[in-house]
Amino acid sequence: MASLLLCSLMLTMVSLFLGSAADAPICILCNRNRNYTSNSTYQSSLGRLISSLSSSAPATGFANGTAGEVPDRVYGLAICRGDVSPTRCAECFASVARDAAAGCPGNKGATIFYDLCHLLYSDQDFFGSYKASEFFFWNTRNASDVPTFNRLLGGLLSNLTILAAPSERRFSAGSVDFTNFEKIYGLVQCTRDLTAESCDACLRSEISDIPWCCDGRKGARVLGGSCHLRYEMSPFFNVSAAADPQPPRLPPVPANTSMPPARTPAAGGKV
Ligand SMILES: *[C@@H]1O[C@H](CO)[C@@H](O)[C@H](O)[C@H]1NC(C)=O
Ligand SMILES: *[C@@H]1O[C@H](CO)[C@@H](O)[C@H](O)[C@H]1NC(C)=O
Ligand SMILES: *[C@@H]1O[C@H](CO)[C@@H](O)[C@H](O)[C@H]1NC(C)=O
Ligand SMILES: *[C@@H]1O[C@H](CO)[C@@H](O)[C@H](O)[C@H]1NC(C)=O
Ligand SMILES: *[C@@H]1O[C@H](CO)[C@@H](O)[C@H](O)[C@H]1NC(C)=O
Ligand SMILES: *[C@@H]1O[C@H](CO)[C@@H](O)[C@H](O)[C@H]1NC(C)=O
Ligand SMILES: *[C@@H]1O[C@H](CO)[C@@H](O)[C@H](O)[C@H]1NC(C)=O
Repeated sequence: MASLLLCSLMLTMVSLFLGSAADAPICILCNRNRNYTSNSTYQSSLGRLISSLSSSAPATGFANGTAGEVPDRVYGLAICRGDVSPTRCAECFASVARDAAAGCPGNKGATIFYDLCHLLYSDQDFFGSYKASEFFFWNTRNASDVPTFNRLLGGLLSNLTILAAPSERRFSAGSVDFTNFEKIYGLVQCTRDLTAESCDACLRSEISDIPWCCDGRKGARVLGGSCHLRYEMSPFFNVSAAADPQPPRLPPVPANTSMPPARTPAAGGKV
């Protein structure tokens, strides 16, 4: 394996509350297949790209772009979680601008996940093609009635995917009643370089990893460079921001119920 995984296992329940987590990377995936040398053209392109994406992403929650010319061109994207305000997004990207280049020193490609935003860059043009599950986190506690939990969770994540994939923000969050006094809260999101179809495929691939990584767990996250999902039994996202009307502009994608084959997760940890 030519990639290096660094994954902080220090996520605690505290990080579930909006705005309370320190803005440090929670996971870093370094692509060590191709390296640049110190003070190279690639390094300066990368620095300019990180700085430009970090400043342009907060306005809409997403930015993609390139810097430099082939063979030293860098491709990158920057995204904030869909319920996060531009101010909070800018705070997250202040950390990205400060820390990202040090995350994978010398490597031409990396994905760096923070709690509320992430950055992906590469020397290859990856726009529009999705990268699925890269990291898994799960709650150590199990749901009380796993068959019912799984049925409701599957329905919730499927519904959220159908809403998110064709939406402008490629984002959806919502909840379903589990018992009379407990809800399951879910959030799904893709990067906006993906088409509705690729977003749908990316999220369905991550959903299909849940039975493998996190069966019956009361909460989990599946993080990928192009899409991510999370569910918990507490409202971990900003419910009113998630409910903001953002009418879909692209035609809806019919649900694809066939699941891709399960894959081996790259890394795991506790929520
Ligand atoms: C890239 O650099 C890393 C050290 O950061 C090294 O382990 C790896 O072998 C290098 N890869 C190549 C293809 O030279
Ligand atoms: C890179 O540039 C810095 C500052 O100009 C210099 O201190 C350093 O020695 C250079 N590194 C290499 C490997 O050339
Ligand atoms: C949750 O379930 C898994 C397997 O289904 C088991 O290994 C684990 O010990 C359970 N955790 C708790 C806290 O009961
Ligand atoms: C999914 O959406 C359908 C149709 O809107 C609805 O009937 C169902 O209750 C939803 N399921 C969940 C788990 O949210
Ligand atoms: C962003 O990604 C899309 C693919 O979805 C691509 O067409 C577009 O050129 C990219 N934008 C920039 C500035 O590179
Ligand atoms: C939640 O979102 C709403 C609407 O976007 C915003 O007014 C509010 O300040 C947000 N709350 C937090 C805690 O971010
Ligand atoms: C549904 O998804 C499967 C697996 O990802 C894929 O092979 C199949 O072509 C998809 N079908 C449609 C109609 O998109």
